Amino acid sequence: MSIPTKTIEQLTHLAREASVRAYAPYSHFRVGAALAAQSGAMFSGCNVENAAYGLTNCAERTAIFSMVAAGETSFEAIVVYTPTEKPIAPCGACRQVLFEFNPDAEMISVCDGTEIFRTSVRDLLPEAFGPKSLT
Ligand code: THU
Repeated sequence: MSIPTKTIEQLTHLAREASVRAYAPYSHFRVGAALAAQSGAMFSGCNVENAAYGLTNCAERTAIFSMVAAGETSFEAIVVYTPTEKPIAPCGACRQVLFEFNPDAEMISVCDGTEIFRTSVRDLLPEAFGPKSLT
């Protein structure tokens, strides 16, 4: 795949760094995500929980929403860090939100172990409903 190794390394660093800022007083599960937008700018995010549990925002969506708030609507790659022994794939809600901003983006999960999981957003959400479904 076409994302330079250096970019992946930078995103991995940013994702790990973002996880430190997770607001996770209920699950204590600190997740970080970092993405490279189409311009090359990088945005990171952490999970933000709430006493009304259902309002929790995952790290992936925080990163995406930061990108959109900064004026960009497409990304090339996202790295997600979870504090686990094995890499973890994004939840269904995040898959849908990632799909909106580039089905062909790369998604890379990293963890505390050496294993990584690398795929595309499209492969994470087969037969997806997306912007093109409305045309
Ligand atoms: N979480 C994420 O931030 N990203 C994921 O990919 C999986 C789950 C968060 C949501 C919640 O704050 C905590 O992890 C436990 O589910």
